[in-house]
Amino acid sequence: MILVSGATGNVGGELLRLLRSEDQPVRALTRDPSKAVLPADVSVVSGNFSSPQSLVEAFSGVQAIFLMMSGQEPEVLRQAVKAGVKRVVLLSSMAVKTRPESFVGKIHSDAEQAVEESGLEWSFLRPGQFATNTRAWAPQISSGDVVRTPYGQVALPAIHPGDIAAVALAALTSDDHVGKSYSLTGPVSVTPVEQVAAIGQAIGRELRHEEIAAEQAAKQMSAHMPAEIVEATLEFLGRPTPAETDALRTVETITGEPARSFTQWANDYAGWFR
Ligand SMILES: NC(=O)c1ccc[n+]([C@@H]2O[C@H](COP(=O)([O-])OP(=O)(O)OC[C@H]3O[C@@H](n4cnc5c(N)ncnc54)[C@H](OP(=O)(O)O)[C@@H]3O)[C@@H](O)[C@H]2O)c1
Repeated sequence: MILVSGATGNVGGELLRLLRSEDQPVRALTRDPSKAVLPADVSVVSGNFSSPQSLVEAFSGVQAIFLMMSGQEPEVLRQAVKAGVKRVVLLSSMAVKTRPESFVGKIHSDAEQAVEESGLEWSFLRPGQFATNTRAWAPQISSGDVVRTPYGQVALPAIHPGDIAAVALAALTSDDHVGKSYSLTGPVSVTPVEQVAAIGQAIGRELRHEEIAAEQAAKQMSAHMPAEIVEATLEFLGRPTPAETDALRTVETITGEPARSFTQWANDYAGWFR
């Protein structure tokens, strides 16, 4: 049995689909099954990382966990070991390597350390920017044809969540990836200007990008994000390190399939913007 945390989210949702298509026994974790939108025939279990006792039922009979970073790893993993779990695949972040001193780098690095100390078999997935982050543009796209962002010309190799999930599937189901850390990106770097155009094409509209100052974006983002995340996100989007702009071949090496482009992602997720 494989337990997928974040099953209602971007990567966990894609992973759930992959595991089901392979007929793997799988259980989906959510904090509130009554609100979770999941396929009707999926085994759903409730649990919250903030209250590790709530995970006892979720972990029962589980061999491997796809784990979202929560900040509660030491206690969560103690419960997992107690329940007899053997393996954990952690959704970490490239920032562990590229920005170890940053807030985002540190929280993911702490999570990795807790996983290493748990004694469980582990793999770390360290993606860079998710293609799904552009969902934040949906309100602008539903109210007009202009998407305003800072750093319109800064290109990053945004990754399709399905590709992170495909690597997670490999790490959960094969022994070849135990003790390995994988930096993951999309196949090519794309700018926000290009991303806006790709979304427009996917939904059959002519969208255009308009540059705004980072300070203006920070103000808007602060309405729904903690200040340290706003700062880290804008720093990453505006001043990526060379390692963060490199498109890597890791997805293809592990899965045998090339990583999907942003254009492909925009087609797959066009419904978010219609
Ligand atoms: N966005 C990026 O560019 C980026 C880059 C590198 C790494 N990452 C990593 O990827 C993560 C986001 O992944 P994602 O986009 O797939 O997630 P997401 O779509 O934002 O979904 C978050 C998931 O986490 C679950 N969750 C939240 N709090 C929980 C808790 N206390 N206990 C149990 N489950 C909880 C939610 O489940 P319910 O609501 O159903 O309970 C939901 O399914 C980030 O947190 C970061 O660690 C992101």
